[in-house]
Order: sequence, then C-alpha cells, then structure tokens
Amino acid sequence: MDSDPFPTGFFARTDSGGDATFYSWPRLVTHIDDQAIAVVGALYEELGISGDVLDLMGSWVSHFRTPPARLTVLGMNAEELGENAAAAVTVVHDLNADPCLPFPDASFDAVVCCVSVDYLTAPVEVFAQVARVLRPGAPFVCTFSNRCFPTKAVRGWLYASDEERGAIVRTYFRVSAGFGASQFQRCTPPALAGDPLYAVWAYRSTADAPGADT
Ligand SMILES: C[S@@+](CC[C@H](N)C(=O)[O-])C[C@H]1O[C@@H](n2cnc3c(N)ncnc32)[C@H](O)[C@@H]1O
Repeated sequence: MDSDPFPTGFFARTDSGGDATFYSWPRLVTHIDDQAIAVVGALYEELGISGDVLDLMGSWVSHFRTPPARLTVLGMNAEELGENAAAAVTVVHDLNADPCLPFPDASFDAVVCCVSVDYLTAPVEVFAQVARVLRPGAPFVCTFSNRCFPTKAVRGWLYASDEERGAIVRTYFRVSAGFGASQFQRCTPPALAGDPLYAVWAYRSTADAPGADT
C-alpha cells in the first residue's frame, strides 16, 4: 500500500460511539430520492452487475432493476436486511469494528456499496478486503449523493465538495492496491433538481496486473 495520504483526524466522527448502537433500530426508509435510486439501478445494469453479488453496507433495498442471481447483503441491522426481498443471504457485520469480510477469496462477481462509503473509518482496509473477495477483473461500484448521517460520516468527507468526494473514493481504490484505474462519474445531470448521484468504480486487478491509478 502507498503511504497514508489522509491527514490526522480525517476519519474522526462526531459520534465516536459504536455503530451497533446507532444502527440498533431499523430505518425502513430510502436515503436518496426515487430519481437517484433509478440512476443507481441503471448504472448497475449498464455495468452488467450480475451473478454472485455483494451489496456492502446494505439495508432493505438494493436498487437493482433485476436482482442478481445470488445477492448477499451485509449491513448493520438484521431487521432491515430481513426486509430485503432481493437478498439470498444477509450478514450483520460491523466493518468499523472489523474490516475483514467474512467471505472466502474470489467469491463474488461484483461488489456494490450505495450511499454508505462515507461511514467507513478504515476504508482502505475494507477496499483491500473487497479486492480479496472479488474474482479477478470483477467490479466494485461505489455510489454516493450529498446526503448522510452527519454524526456518523468521517470528518474528511463532511468537509469535502462532491467532486472532492469522488477523489477521496478514487484514493481509497488506489491505496488499497487491489484494483485497476478507477472511474468517477456524475450520473445525474447537473441541472436536474433532486439528489445528485455520483459513482466511482474500478475492477479487481488480475493476478499479473498490479492495481494502478494515476
Ligand atoms: C445510508 S444507509 C444506506 C443503505 C443502503 N446501502 C441504501 O442504499 O439504501 C447506510 C448503511 O450503511 C450501513 N453501515 C453503516 N455503518 C456500517 C458499519 N460500520 N459496518 C457495516 N455497515 C454499516 C448501515 O447498515 C446502513 O444500512
């Protein structure tokens, strides 16, 4: 991995209490508007997300137009996960308490993470784990908007612009060293009212091609 490019305090949070407490009650709500949700589904379709898929930091909806053949959803609240009709498997796991993913190497065709990457306090470790559980050449797609639970988002995210947030996620990909070059895209048109939707994605490096992103 590269040397740490994040300043001291970047991953501090206003609510430094355990995530298990914050997420102990179910929030059966949507965190972005319908338009942004539709854009997430369209992006997954465009990128061909299918097969064995992991929805990281998931809840009761995973936003696929057509659910993948076998969807595993990992999140914090069992009741939310139990309501996810697309999920074949659900796993309660606190990535801030333990960034190790409880899955074997090369077990997924894709990993997605929707409007949640801002809550990770050890994102580089988590991204390295995502690379481990992905099959070579498989994508990891992170989407985000401009909304969050501010007490739980990391400080570096809260003080960044949307464009800077794209750069932050690209840095997570690069420093984790498990991926090829990442792409950042604004998926909703700038003039459109409502929640903006941005995506950063990259593909798991193949065994003989080390992750590279300039
Ligand atoms: C804003 S919600 C987004 C949920 C879902 N991805 C969606 O698109 O609606 C944030 C999600 O991140 C998950 N989360 C937050 N902190 C987490 C942690 N430490 N480990 C694992 N998941 C976490 C929560 O379970 C919650 O479902």
